[in-house]
Amino acid sequence: MKIINFGSINIDHVYGVDHFVRPGETLESGSYRIFSGGKGANQSFALARAGAAVMHAGKVGPEGAWLKEKLQENGVDVSLVKVVDAPTGHAIIQVNKEGENAIIIYGGANRTVSDADIEKVLEQAEAGDYLLLQNEINALERVLQKAKGKGVTVVFNPAPMTKSVKSYPLELVDIFIVNEIEGEALSAENDPEAILDAMLKRYPKSRTVLTRGKAGVIYADEKQRIEVAALKVKAVDTTGAGDTFIGYFLAELSRGSAIEKCLQRGVKASAICVTRKGAADSIPRLEELL
Ligand code: RIB
Repeated sequence: MKIINFGSINIDHVYGVDHFVRPGETLESGSYRIFSGGKGANQSFALARAGAAVMHAGKVGPEGAWLKEKLQENGVDVSLVKVVDAPTGHAIIQVNKEGENAIIIYGGANRTVSDADIEKVLEQAEAGDYLLLQNEINALERVLQKAKGKGVTVVFNPAPMTKSVKSYPLELVDIFIVNEIEGEALSAENDPEAILDAMLKRYPKSRTVLTRGKAGVIYADEKQRIEVAALKVKAVDTTGAGDTFIGYFLAELSRGSAIEKCLQRGVKASAICVTRKGAADSIPRLEELL
């Protein structure tokens, strides 16, 4: 059993700022660093550091080939990562004094996924595998349709939320992992319990994990609802916290652990992540967590 993560790989340009830039304002940044990022790649780093067998599928341009090497050095199977003739996806990230972020992404190579790529990725899928998806690559509706009938558990993190998400065949998703903004957009509700009720009503065969930052996480399926509180830490950079949670949660789930343990692992790993700068670089290893 393995986890195939078909997702984005970005170069993150991270600027430390006093406050997020306002319309018409030119703002000087006090620090600038380049990190590896992309919701997809971050989740693969987290899965590998949590000890799961993960195969990342995605695309980078020539100047992003170092990201493929870095994934490999971290234990990710990169045989489905292609270096193509397109600019590597990138993110412009402002991080303020509170450790909060504001992000602009440019998809580049992440948005050049073709039907042939999808076929090649899904050829590797075996019954019992997990297929993890975020919303930073194109052609997700086709990925979902083509994965149908393969016997894989489809996990979807609809981040960043866009209008087109609602047009995807979401009934094919087995596990949704959403934050409150994404949950609200999918359910048209804003109270956490109401979001989960609506998700269960709309997608009765699916399970949903709602991540709420400092307020913790709630899991819901048709039989149970489990809440785990967040840990109190001093955040310096929250970038990648959600991705870290997803990687650790899914790694534990794929080992057959009880849901509560999966949630606790995710919460603990993301609490460590926010105490450090950067996305992928701030994800802890399992030994550190334990
Ligand atoms: O979730 C954090 C990630 O979002 C960053 O690494 C950035 O690349 C964007 O994709």
